[in-house]
Parts: sequence; structure tokens; C-alpha cells
Amino acid sequence: MENRLCKITNMTILGIETSCDETSAAVINGKNEKAVLLSNYTATSLTMHAKTGGVIPEIAAREQIKYMIPVIRRAVSAAFNIPDTFDPLDTFRFIDAIAVTYGPGLIGSLLVGVETARTIAFAFNTPIIPINHMVGHIYANWLTANDTVSKAEKKHTNDYLPPAFPALAVVISGGHTDILLMESHGSFVLLGGTRDDAAGEAFDKIGRLLNLPYPAGPTIEKLAKQGDPTHFRFPRPLHDSNDYDWSFSGLKTAVLREVKSLKQIDEQTVCDIARATQDAIIDVIILKTLRATKEFRVKTILLSGGVAANYTLREHFIQKIKNQEIAVDFLAPAKHLCTDNAAMIAAAAYFNYHPVNWQEVTADPELYFV
Ligand code: KG4
Ligand code: ZN
Repeated sequence: MENRLCKITNMTILGIETSCDETSAAVINGKNEKAVLLSNYTATSLTMHAKTGGVIPEIAAREQIKYMIPVIRRAVSAAFNIPDTFDPLDTFRFIDAIAVTYGPGLIGSLLVGVETARTIAFAFNTPIIPINHMVGHIYANWLTANDTVSKAEKKHTNDYLPPAFPALAVVISGGHTDILLMESHGSFVLLGGTRDDAAGEAFDKIGRLLNLPYPAGPTIEKLAKQGDPTHFRFPRPLHDSNDYDWSFSGLKTAVLREVKSLKQIDEQTVCDIARATQDAIIDVIILKTLRATKEFRVKTILLSGGVAANYTLREHFIQKIKNQEIAVDFLAPAKHLCTDNAAMIAAAAYFNYHPVNWQEVTADPELYFV
């Protein structure tokens, strides 16, 4: 059922996101189908995980317990322009609803956010809206900025038009790579997804083979700029298949085989492998997305998830859409709103306003889209 409430209601929503290693809180104001970002703070335990080459769930959750309240304090104080020593009793009454990620993700991490949101909802009698993390990623495309936010986000502020439906949502993160048809708010039809590793996971695993710090996606993008595109060519699995699925685990195996066969890997070779890796991932993502764009005659492509922060991917998308003369709007969130953040969770709640009793909100690590 389409939710119409967002069209008439002016509401301030506190978002909370703790599905993986980030601890994020944000405040948005939703009005007239616009989700205006008032504040967005994210603390991360990434430096700890960079040393171990991946997220250690227990360390992530322990850090999140430390960060959760300070991050909420910062987000709320910035949104209302008050000192972060504010009295919650005075201030939380200006928050109309709480949105919280309840899955998918790491159970310990999810519980930190869910229990915090439940406690606030219980103590202040605030409506609570549980949000699917993957749906949240898509809604980063609906966020608009107010004057206090960076220039990069301001592109949507003047003459703002919301993304048009039907849309194709392509969510590319560390845990998922999915393509969905979106007819209206909250209505998703899964067209395809990865059969094994997610695209971000492929970047990270190949980064580990190349001794790059975790998460490797941003580093691979940087190194690829110096890479020779003709030195290596890695497979593009399911390239010719008649579906909307992807497979990225073979790419990792191909890189492993190449790395093992080389006697020595100098800096240039790392850049060349980075280039070939990124080219293979970008090629198949764009191919299947544009095929679905034509088949379903969508008006908008909504890229999201951590890998959407990759500017090379975005530029290739824009170029291919132009070359093939496809009449479609291509949208991707501001870079810092591609990776995990609470603003996208609050935006998703505004456009899908389905509050529940705080007792009904439970973490679901295996939650899926549809
Ligand atoms: O959405 P996200 O923050 O967390 C999950 O929900 O998984 O995505 C994190 C993923 C990581 O795998 C990271 O390597 C990848 O996004 N990533 C990138 C870039 N920035 C982050 N991958 C390619 N290029 C980037 N610039
Ligand atoms: Zn994510």
C-alpha cells in the first residue's frame, strides 16, 4: 500500500544506523515529499578493522556501545543548533519519530541501535519505525540538504524534483548487490542480485590479495587511475546470461591465480590489477542495469550502497547512458551518503511511515528485501 502521509506531514525524524561497523545518528526534516538533512554523524571502528583486514563483529559492537549516545548527542545538538550538553527531557519532544535499522547486518551491532531506539521510544513515547538497511541505502537518493550542509549535497536544493517512478534501484554494497524495480515508495520487485560475493566484497577480498587496507574499494579506485587497462583482463561472469544476476567470486579467483603466477608484484602491477578488477566490476554492473532500464522503461536509475561512492563507476554510467541515448535520469547520493549512514534510514522512514510499538522492534540479521 502506498504511503501518502509523507505528502502532508511535517516531521522531524531521528535516524539510527548500526548494522555493521559504523555508529551513525542523523536528524532529517520531512515535509512536502522532501527529506531535508539537518545533521548526520558517523563514528567508525574502521581503523581497528583495517589492521585485521575485515570487521570483527564483537569489536564492532563493543565500540558501538561506546559511540552510540555521544553520536546521538552530536546529531541532535547540530540539528537544533544547541550545545551537546542539552537535556534530553527538553529536547527529545521536538523529535516526532525514531527510525532504526533492524536488519540485515551483524546481530551484535544491530542490537546496539535497536535497543537504543527502543529505549528512547519507550522513555519519550516516540513513534518508532524499523527500517531495512538496504531500503535505507536506496533512500539516500531522496535526501536534500539545507544550508548548513556541504556544497556537494546542494545539487538537489534548488527547484528540487523528487526522483520519478518507475525507478530501478541498484544497491551495491559490501554485503549485497541487488537490482530492484521500484514502482512507488516502498514497492520493490527484486529483478536480480549477486549469486555469490557482493561487488564491495569482491573489491575488499581482491584488496586483501594485493595487501591493501580494508575496505579496499576506495584504494582500488585510486590505484586504478594509474593502471594500464590492457595489461590484464579478468572474466565478466554472467555477462551474456539472460537474467539480472551477477557473480563476483570468479573474479577474485582469477586475480588470485594471476597473483600466484607472478614472481614479483611491483607498484605498477598492483595498479594494473586494480584497473582490470574495477573495469570487470563496472562493465557487468552497467550492462545489466542498462538492459533492465530499457526492458522496464524506467524513468530513473537510483544507484546506492558503498560502491556507488566510486566516481569512475558513476562517470561510466553517465557516459554509457549518453552514448546509448537512453532517456533516463541517473542519480547517486553524495559520496558520504553512499556508505552506511543514519540519514538514509531517517529518509526511508519519512517516505514509508509505518510506526510500530517499541516492543515489536527486533533485530533481524538475515532480513531481506522482498
Ligand atoms: O554500503 P556500505 O558502506 O556497507 C555495507 O552495507 O556493506 O559498503 C561498503 C563497501 C565496501 O566493500 C567498500 O570497499 C565499498 O563499499 N566501497 C567502494 C568505494 N567506497 C566504498 N568500492 C569501490 N569504490 C569506492 N570508492
Ligand atoms: Zn550498507
